[in-house]
Amino acid sequence: VTERSTKSSILVVGADGTIGSALVSALRTTNQSVFETTRRKDGEIHSSRFFLDLANPTANWSLPANIAIAFILAAQTSTEYCRRYPRDSRLINVDNTVSLAEALVKRGARVVFLSSSQVFDGTISSVAANHPQSPKTEYGRQKAEAEVRLLSLNGGVQIVRVTKVLSKKTNLLQEWLTRLKAGEVIRPFSDMVLAPVSLSFLISVLVNLIESSEGLDAQLGSIIQVSPGEDVTYSVMAEYLAAGFGIPQELIRPMKVAESSIQYEWIPANTTLDASDLERVFGLSVPDVRSCINQLHLE
Ligand SMILES: NC(=O)c1ccc[n+]([C@@H]2O[C@H](COP(=O)([O-])OP(=O)(O)OC[C@H]3O[C@@H](n4cnc5c(N)ncnc54)[C@H](OP(=O)(O)O)[C@@H]3O)[C@@H](O)[C@H]2O)c1
Repeated sequence: VTERSTKSSILVVGADGTIGSALVSALRTTNQSVFETTRRKDGEIHSSRFFLDLANPTANWSLPANIAIAFILAAQTSTEYCRRYPRDSRLINVDNTVSLAEALVKRGARVVFLSSSQVFDGTISSVAANHPQSPKTEYGRQKAEAEVRLLSLNGGVQIVRVTKVLSKKTNLLQEWLTRLKAGEVIRPFSDMVLAPVSLSFLISVLVNLIESSEGLDAQLGSIIQVSPGEDVTYSVMAEYLAAGFGIPQELIRPMKVAESSIQYEWIPANTTLDASDLERVFGLSVPDVRSCINQLHLE
């Protein structure tokens, strides 16, 4: 790993992703010095945007010096890819993520790592942050292992566990809306649940972390959870969506997962996490699911 010289800055690793690109956009509106990374060889590279591929040997990475806080948002996020290619995905999501965090912590950076409710098996709702991990998918196992190894890096890492992030660009919502507006029927699952968090809310949590003092960090602990209080089925979420646009509910015809041709690695009964620390420490309460859908500003 080689160093670049800069003043104290924020680093966003994985700036092309859903969360990374939104965080970089939010930070670019402030006066802070922001570095971002891409793994796209054909993408734009400039003084504050550099190449970093977590599939590459760590010796080839080039990191800015004087990073105050680094967000590791690059990951292989396809659960299907992780299931099919556990070795390749583990190198990215666990081994090289931990190596990168270790290098950053050694340079004095605070590291924020995004993890998932999939570190739990879904048997209970609103799971406490310190509940023992019990992942059921390869993606969840990788997140769980990364968490454990990152937390052993002497206090330099903060884990942010999130349920399901939705934005106006979320494919499923866009697809549903296009079809509903055309008067077509959609068939959401009535027996699969999610606990959505809007991308903009998650970004406000991450920005709060940058601004938080050391005293607040101590109150937060090393695992922060972001989740609404309740799960909803995909069909209820579709009803909320339709209601927001004045679309007739008759166009929503729920179906069971077993009626579809999709084979899931695992279907959790619950996905919510206990997010009470967010309210206690930052005064941030996670919007309920209906508000989350209404706040997405879908076109
Ligand atoms: N979205 C959610 O609902 C959710 C929920 C819980 C946790 N998380 C976690 O939050 C983080 C960000 O998620 P996201 O939704 O923004 O995911 P995303 O949209 O899939 O973005 C992931 C980013 O990682 C990059 N990437 C993939 N492999 C890489 C590699 N080998 N080296 C460097 N970069 C690589 C991708 O690059 P390309 O753009 O070039 O493909 C992409 O920009 C992930 O750790 C994810 O597990 C997300």
